[in-house]
Amino acid sequence: MSGRPYVVLSACVSLDGYLDSAGGPRLVLSGPEDLDRVDEVRARSDAVLVGAGTVRADRPRLLVRSAQRRAARTAAGRPEAPLKVTVTTSGDLDPTSPFFTTGGEKVVVCATGALARARRRLGGLGTLVDGGAEPTMEGVARALDERGVARLLVEGGRAVHTQFLLGGLADELHLAIAPVFVGDCAAPRFTDDGSFPWQGAHRARLLDARPVGDIVLARYALSDRCEQQEVVS
Ligand SMILES: NC(=O)c1ccc[n+]([C@@H]2O[C@H](COP(=O)([O-])OP(=O)(O)OC[C@H]3O[C@@H](n4cnc5c(N)ncnc54)[C@H](OP(=O)(O)O)[C@@H]3O)[C@@H](O)[C@H]2O)c1
Repeated sequence: MSGRPYVVLSACVSLDGYLDSAGGPRLVLSGPEDLDRVDEVRARSDAVLVGAGTVRADRPRLLVRSAQRRAARTAAGRPEAPLKVTVTTSGDLDPTSPFFTTGGEKVVVCATGALARARRRLGGLGTLVDGGAEPTMEGVARALDERGVARLLVEGGRAVHTQFLLGGLADELHLAIAPVFVGDCAAPRFTDDGSFPWQGAHRARLLDARPVGDIVLARYALSDRCEQQEVVS
């Protein structure tokens, strides 16, 4: 697909491949150094996307934390933080979530059937986009391209990462591996099952791997578009 943003998928997983614990309070896998690394990647993005499940479970703010990075963005004529984007088929989104109460513009891509509910719940807190009866990540990417998003950071969760990967819509993967186990198959893994493009002899290409505090960051190229991008940290 052409006419879509450059897409970076970012996730932090446990040593046994989980994104979170099975229940209870949110499991914090990243350390301070890794959170700062993600902040830098976020600061270079035009938009950051998470699924409605992550908005509900993690209540993320998705802002740029570093004052220096915010200042660099505004000096370049950009908003302090990237556009926030989420997707929903239910419209079940909490208007008091920090996703909606902090930062600048938000876009909510809704299944047509959820538009009325989302409008009732959110009022004017975000721009609602009709994603059709069954929104696809290809459609989401196209809608963001039409809004001028050149670089999209996808921060989860499992359902959203899975769809970008299965759809061949991701250009780079940043996988941070935290030195803990979750050990509970009821917890969310990085992806759901599926026939991913990188199987057997078709392997993703490692761009680099390095320690970030006690975490290992592995960066993979998932498309040829990666070549045209400047080397990222
Ligand atoms: N460790 C990490 O790096 C990291 C990062 C992010 C999240 N997480 C974890 O991941 C877990 C959440 O993952 P998840 O898979 O449950 O949630 P998710 O991928 O964040 O969101 C799934 C939800 O997004 C909406 N959605 C997904 N695909 C859609 C489509 N094609 N069209 C319209 N709406 C769509 C649906 O919302 P509705 O239900 O509203 O219809 C769906 O239930 C949490 O435990 C969170 O802590 C971890």
